[in-house]
Amino acid sequence: MTPALMADLTTILGEERCLTAPEDRMAYSYDMFARGLPDLVVLPENTQEVSSVLAMAGQYRIPVTPRGAGTSLTGGPVPVKGGMVMAMTRMNRILEISVTDRLVRTQPGVVTADLQARVAARGLCYPPNPTSADYCTIGGNIATNAGGASGVKYGVIADYILGLTVVLADGRILKTGGSCIKSVSGFDFKRAFCGSEGLLGVITEACLRLIPAPAVPRTNLVYFSTMETAADAVAAIIENGLTPSTMELMDDRFLAAVSRVYGLTFSDDAKAALLVEFDDGPDRWPDQEKRLKSACSRAIHLKSARTDQDRAQLWQARKGGTAALVRNAGFLQTLDFAVPVSCIARGIRGLQEIASDHELEMVLIAHAGDGNLHPMFIYDPNDPLQKQAFASAEKQMCRFVLSISGTLSGEHGIGIEKSGYLDDELSPVEISLGRELKQLLDPAGILNPGKCGW
Ligand code: LAC
Ligand code: ZN
Repeated sequence: MTPALMADLTTILGEERCLTAPEDRMAYSYDMFARGLPDLVVLPENTQEVSSVLAMAGQYRIPVTPRGAGTSLTGGPVPVKGGMVMAMTRMNRILEISVTDRLVRTQPGVVTADLQARVAARGLCYPPNPTSADYCTIGGNIATNAGGASGVKYGVIADYILGLTVVLADGRILKTGGSCIKSVSGFDFKRAFCGSEGLLGVITEACLRLIPAPAVPRTNLVYFSTMETAADAVAAIIENGLTPSTMELMDDRFLAAVSRVYGLTFSDDAKAALLVEFDDGPDRWPDQEKRLKSACSRAIHLKSARTDQDRAQLWQARKGGTAALVRNAGFLQTLDFAVPVSCIARGIRGLQEIASDHELEMVLIAHAGDGNLHPMFIYDPNDPLQKQAFASAEKQMCRFVLSISGTLSGEHGIGIEKSGYLDDELSPVEISLGRELKQLLDPAGILNPGKCGW
């Protein structure tokens, strides 16, 4: 960082929003997967400031890594090439909620659960629901096209974006889309930025579509004696025409960690549990439960949450389980494959086989309703043998998932974690088009360099 650059930056942001102290740089150097120290951290408060900083970074050819709350699991917001982290957390205002237009206009640093609560207070719902909703931010959700537990019925964030404001690498401000439910004027640039992992521009505002608040959900926990029978039940539930708002699969290792840490009890003989919710209202419950039981004919036990407290406990299990697992471990790596629903059972079996061939203990949870599988591994990345065993298993898993029409990432993104494998999934034409797009929008390569293999 040259004195000239620091002088220019402090002119734009003031000294107090350009952080260079070692402890500040450290605080913005990691996510759940990787570490990399930035040379400095900038905290813009509006689109114009983002624009001025990016234009300046381009002149000095300084890498800029945009960052939300840092809950990523792939190294996406970690500045692996140094330069500056652009933390978007100060841009945390909800600008408008319209009941008539059913939309919310928001800055990117708003925490997802806060946005959900604010629109709920107006009788509306923002359905995408990442597990980290209590901490992660809308900007990061857009950058990875996050989905979470509601994808089976409600899709992912891309399905809710009406408009975006994005600052390009050269400082130009792009406003794309708007406030209309329907708009086909021009190319749909929104889709290109959604899931672009900070490589094509910095999102500074989003207009998101909302839906009327669904009914309070009915939550069921269905226990199975094997993961395979649970996976078959997922397919049967979908085939039966049921529309659960959530269908989360958890294995016995995950439930055991939850029991240990939170003192919750689950069925002892179960090897798998399926959390199934319906949010269509109480008059539909009897029919839905009848059909659920028939789809889950090989279940060993079905429990319905009777009270809000029961429901909250089941969600605490699902949402807090990862923290419970990692509590006594230094490092947990969570992969993020997705497969067609018809391939879930096969996918789980294949992943289990590869893990056991490598003598790796795998924990598996899944947003099973949309085929998004999260195999999790506790190992010591500083132990070369363990690291090698994991890398070899990961490689085989990637190949296997692609061989059954799956995808490497359903919602976490490619980041650093899977950058070596992207070429295995994308076609040569997609890769060259991607490189051309990156070259067009960021010719100096300052935006989030070292990610995704671009
Ligand atoms: C989850 C994260 C790992 O679903 O995506 O818990
Ligand atoms: Zn997930």
